[in-house]
Amino acid sequence: MIVHRLTPCLLQGLLTLCGMHDLEGKPILLCSSNDSSVHLFDLPSFSEKGKIFAKQEIRAIQTGPGGLFFTGDGTGQVRVWNSVAVPTATT
Ligand SMILES: *[C@@H]1O[C@H](CO)[C@@H](O)[C@H](O)[C@H]1NC(C)=O
Repeated sequence: MIVHRLTPCLLQGLLTLCGMHDLEGKPILLCSSNDSSVHLFDLPSFSEKGKIFAKQEIRAIQTGPGGLFFTGDGTGQVRVWNSVAVPTATT
């Protein structure tokens, strides 16, 4: 097995990571940071695809079927996200 070393993502206070495929079958990486956001990265390019925000830091990310993923934040709120609805970063 060959492990490629990719550009590291440098975020503040990383809490958890989760890799998944979006509904188009493309691999993406979800990284939650302690600024209450989750950054979405395209793989293997590592370009940032988008960002989602919660009320408090997202401590857990879990993938579900059909491009869904779930996040749990510090308020105890569990949210369901659809990777299709991920906004494309325009900056
Ligand atoms: C996030 O973590 C960094 C590094 O540990 C820390 O410096 C920063 O104060 C934290 N931010 C919040 C909002 O907790």
